[in-house]
Order: sequence, then structure tokens, then C-alpha cells
Amino acid sequence: MTQDPVTDPRALARALSGRMLIDGALVAARSGRTFEVIDPATGEPVAEAPFGEAADVEAAVAAAVRAQKDWAGVAARQRGRLVAECARLLGEHVEELGRLLALETGKALRTESRVEASVLADVFTFFGGLGSELKGETVPFSPDMLTLTLREPIGVVGAIIPWNVPLLLMALKIAPALVAGNAVVVKAAEEAPLAVLRVAEIMNRVLPAGLFNLLTGLGPECGAPLVGHPKVGKVTFTGSVETGRTVYRAAAEKLIPVTLELGGKSPMIVMDDADLERAVAGAVVGMRFTRQGQSCTASSRIFVQDGLHDAFVERLKAKVDALVMGDPLDERTDIGAIVSPQQFERVRSYIELGRDLPGATAHLCSALPDDPALAKGLFVRPVIFTGVNNACRLAREEIFGPVCTVIRFSDYEAAIEAANDSDYGLAATIWTKDLRTALDATRRLEAGFVQVNQNLVVQPALSYGGIKQSGLGKEATLEAMLEHFTHKKTVIVNMA
Ligand code: NAI
Ligand code: MG
Repeated sequence: MTQDPVTDPRALARALSGRMLIDGALVAARSGRTFEVIDPATGEPVAEAPFGEAADVEAAVAAAVRAQKDWAGVAARQRGRLVAECARLLGEHVEELGRLLALETGKALRTESRVEASVLADVFTFFGGLGSELKGETVPFSPDMLTLTLREPIGVVGAIIPWNVPLLLMALKIAPALVAGNAVVVKAAEEAPLAVLRVAEIMNRVLPAGLFNLLTGLGPECGAPLVGHPKVGKVTFTGSVETGRTVYRAAAEKLIPVTLELGGKSPMIVMDDADLERAVAGAVVGMRFTRQGQSCTASSRIFVQDGLHDAFVERLKAKVDALVMGDPLDERTDIGAIVSPQQFERVRSYIELGRDLPGATAHLCSALPDDPALAKGLFVRPVIFTGVNNACRLAREEIFGPVCTVIRFSDYEAAIEAANDSDYGLAATIWTKDLRTALDATRRLEAGFVQVNQNLVVQPALSYGGIKQSGLGKEATLEAMLEHFTHKKTVIVNMA
């Protein structure tokens, strides 16, 4: 495996084909079985990935247990330095990783995949600087007793990641886990195993063998044995609510802690006095139209007050129309392909459902690519539904595609109520020039992440995670590292 960045993603996919990382070595599955990795923009296979199963999980966890013993003895600041060194190396591979990610996920290079690859390095830089922050406390318990707490690593962390933002979501889990002194075993999503494998292989040049293992395989055959493994002391998961529940149940059997980052149905409330252009631009970013809407944070329920509603819909249509759909690797492309045939069918079924709703209008935007090479690609035109309410399935269920509902409202109180009338509580935004309304909404919106007049994406140092069905626990901060990847030990020294 070459150490230099490889600019041709297809060549790199072939070089990584059939391998995963266990105990510092790129290996096949014990069984020799594989599954295909598809380029969703063309439908063509680009690589095989090992079909990891319990025997592979066993080998990876055993390697992690061995590596973690030494790693826990490395000074915390030095662990941070090594993670920061990984960040530097990953920074040299941004272009390569972005291209590989675009190939396997269908996410456009310029608008999404390259950006994600650079944020990946940023997350490692952030956590790499936090080694010396793994501090305990002293407790004034008794004059005769020195009482203090220590932050100790959990041991082996199992991380299960999805395909929509695999590099970033993996980084948010493994960077804090490693700095805190744990070893990790990651189970990649079956749709996107290649870029994360390349990251593991690059980090393996810096980190001791076995400290970071990356398995490929399916949920029941590979993810479940990882969660259930007796030596895995913590599981961190991002994905669907349904699988999140399964993971939580399995973790409950072992009584181990879990972090769950699940779905969303994030509201955006646009008041009559909002800056129209800013709000529309915020909706395009918030809905992640350039990621084919495949985001747990997607602002998929857009409540717009009467006075601005029609103008908002017109401007939003025009802006989404101007986005170019095409080859994810082409610099001109804004919108790429949906990740898999399953997701493609699922998104299409919701669009059909919306079309049959009485009173609903489907505004189809942008245009399918006309390049014959992309004829078998999984492209879906973005759809804005109007004339719907918050009770319909389009507004209640996570679609995870380029489909949003714009819901008209007249009364602010009713908008807040509707925004909170959801099983989810990941993110929310409010758009207004009125300070009282803005501050009132920030207090009342039921979500883990609330923004006023902007729609920023996840950033290191900003706590990220949802309430209600959107999950358990937070990510991306120092506190998240302490809370989720260490345990607190109390020590009392009797000096009498
Ligand atoms: P999923 O939750 O089934 O998959 C996520 C990860 O969990 C994958 O690595 C998968 O292999 C693994 N997994 C599946 N079953 C497992 C099990 N029994 N034990 C351990 N690991 C298991 O999500 P999927 O099927 O990719 O997408 C379905 C829907 O989930 C999407 O349409 C979307 O609504 C939602 N989703 C939400 C994400 C988020 O960012 N919160 C990310 C991906 C999907
Ligand atoms: Mg699934």
C-alpha cells in the first residue's frame, strides 16, 4: 500500500479491495468472503470489501485489548501528540480521501466530500490538543484524607458508523476515544468502507498496531458481535433509530455505556420579519441539498409565516434549481447520487407518498444528469413539498433524501408547538430580526442544537447530539471525551 496520496480514486479503491485493518495489518475476512462496493453514480462495482464476522471481531478485539494496555501507560499529552500527528498526515491526504469518498458514496467532491475530508483532519487536531485536559478533581472531604478523582480509559471502544458522513462521524468517535487512552474497533458502514479504511491505514503508520482496528461487514454479522463482545466496554453508534435501539438493548445485557446519535426531523422557523435571502440560503444548507439530503440534521420541516411564505418558496425553488446534479468527481457538480439502491427506493417511496397527499404540491428542482455514463446512477431530483401540514408522514418520518416540506403558519405559538411536535429533537433554527422572539425560541425549541439566523454544520468544540428519539449523549467536545470515553475513579488517601 502506497504511502503517497493517490489521486485516482478507482486505482485506490482497487488497491484497498478485499482488505480491512486488524492488528496493524491489512487483511481479508477469516472466511474469505467479500461483498461489493458500488459507485452509486454509475452503478458499477469499484471494490470488494471483506465480509467481517464474529471471528474477525474476535481477532480485532483481542488486538485492541493488547494494544490498549500499553497505550493507557503513555502520558496523556503524548497520546494527544500522536493523534495530532495523525491529523497532520490526514491533512496531506485530503484530496485523496475526498475523491475516494465521492466515488463510494456519490457525494459531490467540491461541495461535500473534499470538505468532509478536511474537517476530518480538523477533528483530530482539536482532540489531539486535549490530552492534558484529562484532569480529575480534588475533593475537600476531610482534613485527614487526600481525596481525588482520576479519569481512566474504559478499555476497548466499539464504534459503529453510518455511510452518510463516514469520515467526520468516525473522527468524532475515535479521536476522543484514543486521546482518552482507549483502543478502538470500528465497524464501517457497508455502503462506504473505503475512505474510512484508508484513514485507518494512514493512522496505523503513526499509532501502535492494534490500537485502531477497522472492520467491514454487515450489521447483524459484524456489528452485532462487536456490540456483544464481552471485552468491548463502551459502544458509540450513529445511524437509524431502529438499529440504535437494537444496539442499546445489546449493551444493556452487558451493562455497558452507549452513545447514540440517531435521526432527526429538524424544524426551521422563518418569521415574517426574517431576512429572506439569508433564510433561503440557510434552508439550502440546512436541508443539505448538496448531500442529497442525507443528513440526520437536515432542516426538513420548514415552517414559514404567511407574509413570507410564497416569496420564500419561489426563492428556494430558484436556488435549488440552480444546483447542478452530475458526476460526483466533476468540479462543476453540486449534487451527486443517492448512496445505495435501498436508500434510492426509500426516498422515491416518500416522494410518491407526498404526490398522493391531498392538497400537496411537489416542486421538482434541478435536473437529472444527461451524461450517458451516469444513466444507471442513483440520481433523484430535489423536491420541495408545499400545501402539507406537520401531521403527514413526510413531516414526521426521517426521509434521508432531498425532500423537504414547507409548512405555512400564521401564529408564532402554533409554530413553536408544531416544531416541537416531533419524535425527534436533534437541531432547530429560528429566523427573525426580533431579539425577543429569537431568545424565546432558543429556550423553547426542543433540540440539542439551536441556531438563530444561521445554519452551521457540526463543528469541533460545539456540543452535538439530540434529545428524544434523536439519541443519547453528546459528541465533539472536551466534556464529551471525559463523559463518554473515560470513567471516574475516586481515590482516598488516609493521612492520619
Ligand atoms: P443503520 O442504522 O441500519 O446502519 C448504521 C450502521 O449500523 C451501519 O454500519 C450498519 O451496518 C450498522 N448496523 C446495522 N444493524 C446492526 C446491528 N444489528 N448491530 C450493530 N450494527 C448494526 O442505517 P441504514 O440502514 O444505513 O439507513 C437506514 C436509515 O437510517 C436511513 O434512511 C436514515 O433515515 C437513518 N440513518 C441515520 C443516520 C444518522 O446520521 N443519524 C445515518 C445513517 C442512516
Ligand atoms: Mg439498516
